[in-house]
Amino acid sequence: MIQFVIFFIWLAGDFKLVLNSPTLGSKDNPRLLSKDIICGGFEYPVYQNHTMFFYHEDSEEMYVAGTNFVLKLDVEGSHIMENFSLKAPDQQHCQEGQCENVITVIEKFQDSLFVCGTNGNKPQCWKLFSSVNNQSLEIVDSYEGMGISPFVYTHNAISLTVEGDLYSAAPLDTDGSSLQFRRKAGSRTNVWMYDNWISEPTFISATWVEQREEPDNEKIYIFFREKNSDHNPEADPWISRIARVCKVDEGGSKRFFQNMWTSFLKARLVCGFPEKSLYFNHLRDIFIVHAKDWVDTRVYGLFTSNWNATAVCIYTIGKIEDVFENSTFKGYNKDIPKPRPGTCVKNSRNLPLATVNMVKDYPEMNDWVESIHQTAPFYVSSNNYTKIAVDRVQAADGCMHNVLLLATDSGKIHKVLEAGEEPFIISETQLSSRSTVQSMKLDSKKKKLVVGFSENISIIDLQRCQEYNKSCADCVLARDPYCVWTEFGCTPTVTGGIQNILDGNQVCVNHLKKRKSKLTGPNGRQIHYLRWI
Ligand SMILES: *[C@@H]1O[C@H](CO)[C@@H](O)[C@H](O)[C@H]1NC(C)=O
Ligand SMILES: *[C@@H]1O[C@H](CO)[C@@H](O)[C@H](O)[C@H]1NC(C)=O
Ligand SMILES: *[C@@H]1O[C@H](CO)[C@@H](O)[C@H](O)[C@H]1NC(C)=O
Ligand SMILES: *[C@@H]1O[C@H](CO)[C@@H](O)[C@H](O)[C@H]1NC(C)=O
Ligand SMILES: *[C@@H]1O[C@H](CO)[C@@H](O)[C@H](O)[C@H]1NC(C)=O
Ligand SMILES: *[C@@H]1O[C@H](CO)[C@@H](O)[C@H](O)[C@H]1NC(C)=O
Ligand SMILES: *[C@@H]1O[C@H](CO)[C@@H](O)[C@H](O)[C@H]1NC(C)=O
Ligand SMILES: *[C@@H]1O[C@H](CO)[C@@H](O)[C@H](O)[C@H]1NC(C)=O
Repeated sequence: MIQFVIFFIWLAGDFKLVLNSPTLGSKDNPRLLSKDIICGGFEYPVYQNHTMFFYHEDSEEMYVAGTNFVLKLDVEGSHIMENFSLKAPDQQHCQEGQCENVITVIEKFQDSLFVCGTNGNKPQCWKLFSSVNNQSLEIVDSYEGMGISPFVYTHNAISLTVEGDLYSAAPLDTDGSSLQFRRKAGSRTNVWMYDNWISEPTFISATWVEQREEPDNEKIYIFFREKNSDHNPEADPWISRIARVCKVDEGGSKRFFQNMWTSFLKARLVCGFPEKSLYFNHLRDIFIVHAKDWVDTRVYGLFTSNWNATAVCIYTIGKIEDVFENSTFKGYNKDIPKPRPGTCVKNSRNLPLATVNMVKDYPEMNDWVESIHQTAPFYVSSNNYTKIAVDRVQAADGCMHNVLLLATDSGKIHKVLEAGEEPFIISETQLSSRSTVQSMKLDSKKKKLVVGFSENISIIDLQRCQEYNKSCADCVLARDPYCVWTEFGCTPTVTGGIQNILDGNQVCVNHLKKRKSKLTGPNGRQIHYLRWI
């Protein structure tokens, strides 16, 4: 009994020490990581108003596009491998301040790098090619870029390549109007939207979700905000949306809806507290985590509210498809024609008139796309987050964990653990004291995060475990799936190391228990008591 009491005091004392330690992370207070966590980066010779990052997963190549250039980046060595100059050719006839070529689109397209820019107010695209890995890039072709790149970089634009086809949303006019989502180039027909489908949109992202068993059923999902058609003074002026089109959609027949999407449907993407009617209506960024089974693919949406809070909501493609395939249609209460609007068919030009007509007039779903947590967002914060990325990390026990990487408007990166229902802020890295993160790209294989400011690029090593190297407790309480405690201290995760992602405390008790029982000799009863403490 005496032994038990001593044990208890010893453990309690040790715990107090651990829990009061000011460097530890907690649900709301991240552990601050010092600046030296940055493992590399460089400064731009001139201030960049607009930069874009492009990471090609297959070739593991990272590109940076700015004003008049495309850089190829060595993320590991954090240096520029190539600086390809792309200036607007006509420097005489442009209006002042619009002579630059701000790159706004960068994609892998038909084995080449496909780049488009404002090109002195005359959008243009270039196909860049490097035949052997090490050879420098060269222009092999160029195209008119209207509808792919905006005329000015401040206007909205997104792009996506799928099986050799290029999809894009960019204004057709210099004033930023005629902005919609189109298939613009490639082997399939060019297809665009019917004007009445959306109102004053801001496109955030588009993605393609593969279905290996049924490729003809594959869809392209589009995420955007638009003007709310509900003009009730209490209604939010903006509304966030998900829309989808079929990959095989070739548009309508020659007589009706030629070159228009015949499979377009849209639904409201909700994030908030439905029971309190509190919503985060302003979609800001999207990150997609693809899964082996396409229905499990997860969509991470970053939203802001009109009371200046931000939230992350998580959706699955399975639930999204459920809405598009099973919901009734807004404003329509007659019999739904067959095939149901939105069904992917091999020859969309032969679709019955009734189906196409319904897509034309009633493309909106009555049901809303709800997040997997339904009653509340996964994460709500007063931080003004602007960008999101999500990494899948294999922990010491072989389980995969999702780590959210969130950038704030004040130059911070938060690493947030998604394990169970509650988010947990693992760490905060302060990269800049004032600037907004302009672009951010994850290299999940190298476990590096590339963060862009107007002045420079910083590369963060996501597994800098020496930050938690003080003790086992320090390492385990961090709940950082990238790190484990081993005989060499806190190191990047290896199997067999000590780690507890779900509940940092538990393993450290076990660890202490193990140490103590070694000192006192094996005694089953004591260990039993300890479990209950
Ligand atoms: C790339 O080269 C161009 C000149 O061709 C130069 O103006 C630009 O500053 C360079 N960019 C970087 C990041 O070094
Ligand atoms: C970048 O911004 C600066 C100041 O905001 C402006 O003077 C300059 O014209 C902009 N550059 C481009 C290419 O638009
Ligand atoms: C490419 O460059 C690297 C180092 O610059 C070199 O080690 C490698 O052999 C080169 N590969 C080819 C195919 O030239
Ligand atoms: C939200 O932030 C904006 C810009 O910083 C500010 O003008 C506005 O008053 C804020 N609204 C609330 C409800 O705090
Ligand atoms: C549509 O609803 C039916 C019946 O509830 C269900 O079996 C089916 O899985 C749903 N479709 C999707 C895509 O979830
Ligand atoms: C949050 O950051 C965005 C992007 O920098 C900015 O436009 C917005 O005003 C910021 N909101 C608040 C409340 O500061
Ligand atoms: C990068 O630029 C930001 C914004 O000006 C600055 O705060 C930060 O110190 C810079 N980082 C490096 C590594 O130079
Ligand atoms: C971490 O601590 C261990 C001792 O516990 C030490 O051997 C090791 O060098 C340290 N590692 C780093 C990166 O500081």
